[in-house]
Amino acid sequence: MQATARAHTNIALIKYWGKRDETRILPMNNSLSLTLDGFYTTTTVAFHEELTEDQFYLDDQLVEGAAYGKVTAFLDRIRQTAGRLDLSATVHSTNHVPTAAGFASSASGFAALAAASAKAIGLDVTDPELSMLTRHGSGSACRSIYGGFVEWEKGTQADGSDSYAVPIAPADHWDVRVAAVVLSSAEKKILSREGMKRTVDTSVYYPAWVESIPADLAAIKQGICDKDITKVGETAEANCLRMHATTLAAQPPFSYWHSTTMAVMEAVQDLRDSGVPAYFTIDAGPNVKVLYLPEQEETIREKLQAIPGVQDVTVSRPGPGLAYL
Ligand code: ADP
Ligand code: DP6
Ligand code: CO
Repeated sequence: MQATARAHTNIALIKYWGKRDETRILPMNNSLSLTLDGFYTTTTVAFHEELTEDQFYLDDQLVEGAAYGKVTAFLDRIRQTAGRLDLSATVHSTNHVPTAAGFASSASGFAALAAASAKAIGLDVTDPELSMLTRHGSGSACRSIYGGFVEWEKGTQADGSDSYAVPIAPADHWDVRVAAVVLSSAEKKILSREGMKRTVDTSVYYPAWVESIPADLAAIKQGICDKDITKVGETAEANCLRMHATTLAAQPPFSYWHSTTMAVMEAVQDLRDSGVPAYFTIDAGPNVKVLYLPEQEETIREKLQAIPGVQDVTVSRPGPGLAYL
């Protein structure tokens, strides 16, 4: 009863920001992402009858506390679905992505955990069912089931039975590049879960955020279909700025940005002023991702690496969906 799965992270171009149901992990709005080939998690799950409690190792370190709690709660759901409450698991996970730094480790982490644990326990699930299970670990993870461009349908049912990801365009549809600009791999002070909750509960800008989503979604889907970097980039950048604006209007206010985050945003603006189509987006963390086309690769790398405070630039292409190893 053992299985290994690999899942890649995804970068949200239209952000998931806020839950309507925190227990079932149901979002307020649809979101849309691109799975990245440069960052991933590999997880092995082994179920045993003789074990009395789950063990979770992340990058060879035994994990306790809240991160352990999220993994066992997730495994409880898998055990319940499979009707095997008698089993406990050992989980070994390796993040080829900085953990909790705004690079979506929770997305690749829980997608890999969901796939490996479902297979190890013998659950026969369809992709939408697996995406729904995955959602309970971390919302953004339900999109990492698939490669390429993926939309998470928020659904309308109170029980969450129609809230799962659907593929929009495969990885080979369009060779866009995403440069991940690393400023800091340190764990964020406010995890995504906590940050979006505070925003929903207190930000006076939150209703405007939710209202703005349908227009963004329509524009970006058209842009992806037409392989139109300007449309996709402008829409994603504006959506990112609107999400981060909601945190400034929360109580107490907060921001995920560092001073270097703004320096990178300015560099991207400079590139555009000089005729290079490049656009930024930022998840819940200080690090910036820059979207551009392959012919700009050298210009982009040079510009980004020269910014004081930038530690590393890692380029991704559209990445694949789940794989079982
Ligand atoms: P990120 O920007 O990295 O997604 P989040 O705040 O969303 O940051 O989530 C970080 C949390 O995700 C960690 O504190 C941990 O609970 C969980 N996580 C990260 N990697 C894994 C993994 N490989 N397996 C299980 N859980 C993970
Ligand atoms: C800003 O999926 O990490 O990256 O569902 O509480 O685990 P939980 O949060 P998470 O939130 C991701 C927020 C985001 C935007 C996105 O990925 O869509
Ligand atoms: Co996350």
